[in-house]
Amino acid sequence: MKHILSITDFSRDELLQIIEKARDIKSSPITYCDAARGSIIATLFFEPSTRTRLSFESAALRLGANVLGFADAKTTSTKKGETLEDTIKIVNGYADYIVMRHFETGAAARAAAVSHVPIVNAGDGSGEHPTQALLDIFTIAEKIPLNNLIIAFVGDLKYGRTAHSLSQGLAHFNPKFYFISPSSLRMPEEILTKLKNQGISCQELETWDEIARGVQVLYMTRVQEERFQDKAEYARLKNAYVLNKATAALFKDDCLFMHPLPRVGEINPEIDNDQRAIYFKQAHNGVWVRMALFLALDGERRGLI
Ligand code: CP
Repeated sequence: MKHILSITDFSRDELLQIIEKARDIKSSPITYCDAARGSIIATLFFEPSTRTRLSFESAALRLGANVLGFADAKTTSTKKGETLEDTIKIVNGYADYIVMRHFETGAAARAAAVSHVPIVNAGDGSGEHPTQALLDIFTIAEKIPLNNLIIAFVGDLKYGRTAHSLSQGLAHFNPKFYFISPSSLRMPEEILTKLKNQGISCQELETWDEIARGVQVLYMTRVQEERFQDKAEYARLKNAYVLNKATAALFKDDCLFMHPLPRVGEINPEIDNDQRAIYFKQAHNGVWVRMALFLALDGERRGLI
């Protein structure tokens, strides 16, 4: 039984196996329509989501599994004061897997500590979002080789869990990272240190002008209003980086424009038809990657792996 709490739970080979399986599923999803029949997947979302919850549910349904859960914890006994641990112990009796999102960093690890069924972290506060990283890596690999990638992460790198997970996932492939953020929203020191200890080239900047021509992937992120105590500070920083026709011209013709979404102004919709913009395809890839992940977990549960 394996919990998926961090992208660092995956070896390089395991990442590549998931990508390969997701590629196969994407080319012929109907082949897998019964692959997890009889399994029950719970989606417990204590924090809002569109893409992650719905693509997990779509993935489960496409595999023939059943889904139960909630999208709003206010409708559950959490509202009456039930602890996360008790909720998880209860759902252990109702489902074979628990996919959970929570506003608290470390909540998925807390859940895993009391769970007998696999916990899949679908985002824990400003911690990690490992399955987003899987779909991001899959999306990149569809377009360009993963090895020796040059990627710029831009925006809220302090609270942005997708950047935390993707950077650590890509670390298996000898990347060069540019971390572009306001000084108050820098990549956490702990992650920077881990990356540097692995010999990864990391450069922190406050503007993208000088590196734009050299990057293969521009990974935009949203400034996370919900994590700010000081709303005036959020207002000051929210438009620090905006990709629009003028700024997009700084980047190469074959640069990939990515974003985990939702966006709230940092990518102008005028970019959506730019051939470099792949963020909607990126979101759609979540289904194939999450199907591949369920298959890996389900195979393990059924003793097939
Ligand atoms: N990318 C992502 O996690 O989106 P949602 O918050 O809509 O799930």
